Amino acid sequence: MSSSESTSGSAQIGVTGLAVMGSNIARNFARHGYTVAVHNRSIAKTDALLAEHGHEGDFVRSETVAEFVAALERPRKVLIMVKAGAATDAVIEELAEAMDDGDIIIDGGNALYTDTIRREKAMRERGLHFVGAGISGGEEGALHGPSIMPGGPAESYESVGPLLEEISAHVEGVPCCTHIGPDGAGHFVKMVHNGIEYSDMQLIGEAYQLLRDGLGRSAVEIAEVFDEWNKGDLDSFLVEITAAVLRQSDAKTGQPLVDVIRDEAEQKGTGRWTVKSALDLGVPVTGIAEAVFARALSGSVDLRRTTTGLASGKLNGSPDDAGKFVEDVRQALYASMILAYAQGFDQIQAGSAEYNWNVNPSGVATIWRGGCIIRAKLLDPIRDAFDEAPNLASLITAPFFRSAIESAIDSWRRVVVAATQLGIPIPGFSSALSYYDALRTERLPAALTQGLRDYFGAHTYGRIDADPGQKFHTLWSGDRTEVPA
Ligand code: 6PG
Repeated sequence: MSSSESTSGSAQIGVTGLAVMGSNIARNFARHGYTVAVHNRSIAKTDALLAEHGHEGDFVRSETVAEFVAALERPRKVLIMVKAGAATDAVIEELAEAMDDGDIIIDGGNALYTDTIRREKAMRERGLHFVGAGISGGEEGALHGPSIMPGGPAESYESVGPLLEEISAHVEGVPCCTHIGPDGAGHFVKMVHNGIEYSDMQLIGEAYQLLRDGLGRSAVEIAEVFDEWNKGDLDSFLVEITAAVLRQSDAKTGQPLVDVIRDEAEQKGTGRWTVKSALDLGVPVTGIAEAVFARALSGSVDLRRTTTGLASGKLNGSPDDAGKFVEDVRQALYASMILAYAQGFDQIQAGSAEYNWNVNPSGVATIWRGGCIIRAKLLDPIRDAFDEAPNLASLITAPFFRSAIESAIDSWRRVVVAATQLGIPIPGFSSALSYYDALRTERLPAALTQGLRDYFGAHTYGRIDADPGQKFHTLWSGDRTEVPA
């Protein structure tokens, strides 16, 4: 804690960590009329921000953490925009040393939610408030209005919420920022957001490859298809920017840029975290997992060098009716994307139950409608579905999505069959369809799994004609009679 209890400045918010995201958020606050204290470990970044954008509003320059903290009005509110992990811990520690009871630290990075739970507890014990806030929207979003997912104590949201809401994106006048829940809830929801982002991007990639390799379309021709799609049900930021990326031509070669970029997808880790957490929670987020694995596979350069050109078996030629195929791919993409969101919301609800966060799924859908990377027209009916039934077992049981999938299902199956016959990998489309088929199937082969487990490990099984809690075991190595377990 600071010894200078009386020191108090005039800045309403402080931002430390002035890489592009941090600088843009600081500018966003300033453009909304706030006095913003800015700080960075190396003063050069602070000065660059002030030189280039100082005229956009009221900034207070600081060289040291002590100066930075002293520039803030009480209770002090500091937004940290540094790299997740050890760098965040170091900055938090330095700030906590200089701050006083009731001051608020907001971590706007992509922190792992279990770190946020730990940090919130540690700060609470020191009399400070800690808000783990997921922020989505990239550099542009940070400047013009991101989607913000703050967790932490409800009490701190009362003071930081209005500021964050003001700088967030707005859709129909509604801010894309709401209090998600205690401690790690905000970063958990942001993590799942990124998982859905991975899934959506994988599905878009599969649609692109089907049109490229299945129909022999060029990048520019496929850009036109995505432009068209973006006018309908698929209307979303990622579909919109897909058209822009596909249309971009490479200055050096004159080729479409997408044709000269290495086909090795990288990842910083949030998709992997989502899947790890889903494994712990027992939530089958198959689409997100396939997307993470697809990135890993694409990046396995040495392996791919040895496997490229392995036998394909007899493949079909291009689909006969190109127009029908394009429409089928559109429907398959739409249905698979519905499943991606459905699985993500399942995980949010499971996480919320596990940690007692009481996350409101309709609130999450509302703040994802603008500013964030997965913003999509689809989020309106998702919000409506959860408004109507907050404890919906799965989004796909809501009337809107039931009928959307019913309309798409035949196309979806045709695409999975066609891709298989064309030899085009579609882990996202096919796993989403299998997930859907599994959910609608009355009897799964899990009964056989249970039988096998009982055979080799006496792990017992339940019977369809007994109470769900009752377990039985067959004496496999004896006389094979059944005994209650
Ligand atoms: C966002 C993005 C952002 C970032 C991802 C990229 O919501 O604004 O998700 O957080 O671009 O972390 O993740 P990968 O590098 O793992 O693709």
